[in-house]
Amino acid sequence: MISDEEPGYDLDLFCVPNHCAEDLDKVFISHGLLLDRTEKLARDVMEDMGGHHTVALCVPKAGHTFFADLLDCIKAPNRNSDRFIPMTSYCNDQSTGAIKVTGGDNLSTLAGKKVLIVEDIIDMGKTMQTLLSLVQQHKPKMVEVASLLVKRTPRSIGHRPDFVGFEIPNKFVVWYALDYNEYLRNLNHVCVISETGKAKYKSEAESSG
Ligand code: HPA
Ligand code: MG
Repeated sequence: MISDEEPGYDLDLFCVPNHCAEDLDKVFISHGLLLDRTEKLARDVMEDMGGHHTVALCVPKAGHTFFADLLDCIKAPNRNSDRFIPMTSYCNDQSTGAIKVTGGDNLSTLAGKKVLIVEDIIDMGKTMQTLLSLVQQHKPKMVEVASLLVKRTPRSIGHRPDFVGFEIPNKFVVWYALDYNEYLRNLNHVCVISETGKAKYKSEAESSG
């Protein structure tokens, strides 16, 4: 739980490229902390799965970095010990409103399985609500949600994931694959965007409206 008063860290304490320094206010969650917390979430997920075959669903695009790190932690025991955790994974492609499924599989393979939906951030919770009802239609045995971040926002519809990395204040965060209109996605700490950054990467729709 990160409080509303959390100041974050000055940018010059971390490796932040000069060309995006003005787009950011603060480093909010460092990459090291993200990875350490992800390792613990992976352990919680594994304990909860109890050896059942689980299908992990990634919500792109932002979810893919957290998804890859989480799955890496879950698969590590398969490499390093005789304990085997059956796990399959694939990616969904989401567009606003309707969610379409891409990839070799389709959702009918979820019938009877344990499903873990992996998301980067839950803000209002509408995407997750839509995705959950879509997945439920395919009669999985159980569906759980892991989200790296959950935002405290008055706009929330009240969805609470089963596994939460960090609960954060109502600020717009970027990096670690989180984006602002597709920009500021590619570096590895979670940062708070600056007013300069917001103005620079405003979407066409926002600047004309
Ligand atoms: N950052 C990136 N994507 C988002 C956010 C955020 O703070 N909230 C909802 N989608
Ligand atoms: Mg997302």
